[in-house]
Amino acid sequence: MTGTSPSDFAKRLDKTADDTEALLGRLLADDILPDEIARPKRLMDAMRYSSLNGGKRLRPFLVVESAAVFGVPREAALLAGAALECIHCYSLIHDDLPAMDNSDLRRGRPTLHKKTDDATAILAGDGLLTLAFDIVTRDEIHRDANVRLLLTRALARCAGIGGMVGGQILDLAGEGRFGGNEPIDVARIQQMKTGALLRYGCIAGAILGQATAKEYQALDDYGRALGEAFQIADDLLDVEGDAAALGKPSGQDAALGKTTFVTQLGIEGAKQRVRDLLARADSAVSIFGDRAAVLQAAARFVAERKN
Ligand code: IPE
Ligand code: IPE
Ligand code: MG
Ligand code: MG
Ligand code: MG
Repeated sequence: MTGTSPSDFAKRLDKTADDTEALLGRLLADDILPDEIARPKRLMDAMRYSSLNGGKRLRPFLVVESAAVFGVPREAALLAGAALECIHCYSLIHDDLPAMDNSDLRRGRPTLHKKTDDATAILAGDGLLTLAFDIVTRDEIHRDANVRLLLTRALARCAGIGGMVGGQILDLAGEGRFGGNEPIDVARIQQMKTGALLRYGCIAGAILGQATAKEYQALDDYGRALGEAFQIADDLLDVEGDAAALGKPSGQDAALGKTTFVTQLGIEGAKQRVRDLLARADSAVSIFGDRAAVLQAAARFVAERKN
């Protein structure tokens, strides 16, 4: 395929979103465990509330499309994508808690702690985090246990200390809430808190496809550029977007005193950085020729998205 039109891209993204929705529905079904006592309804309902019926499902899409470069079976990529989406949904539940960004609206609905209570939200997040590792280690993902091990270890690293969780604490430190006045490295915060999970979407495809070192590096570089662009676009939308289209409040970063590329470079400077990152993402995957067209369209989508 040479070039991917915006409408072809939108259809493809929708298809993966639908498939991910159906898969998550099955993975979180009431009969997930045979013993009724072992699957408390309150917890399962909360996990379903925050992971079903919503979201762009961009992270699973990146897994599916980067895996497609290597001809990996779609079902395997969707499972790895579902595991990643569980981690993403948990990160949103915790990000919205009163102790973190204190947000009332997510994906156009009350946040989970508003709908239920803080303890239920914390535990639903924990449930989704641990379910992700149950999913990503399943035999159906790949017949080679070593591939499953690499996939699992990379997920732990992207989600954990040097990835999303580490980035979230640096983000909060950047508000000045823990005292101290260490310089704020916005690029580093963004690469960790948001970039790492998006990058995982891309390297998961390379791992599943048993890519060469050069191919892996190309997807890694693409994922880094796309991940950073994604968070700058999010920060721009926080300033320029409106809550109805976003499905979450706007103006929150300024209210919380967050330091972002928008505060550091201004709106135009931040937009220029997104354009530079888009060019970097594009060229990183050019080694795949026509097989890179959808990934290149995904980078454009990230840069131009409105929600
Ligand atoms: C929002 O991510 C949180 C950030 C990392 C900026 P998305 O914009 O991908 O949220 P959903 O999944 O589509 O709701
Ligand atoms: C969130 O960044 C990154 C996560 C790890 C969840 P934001 O705090 O800017 O995300 P939104 O704007 O609440 O979706
Ligand atoms: Mg946050
Ligand atoms: Mg937030
Ligand atoms: Mg934001």
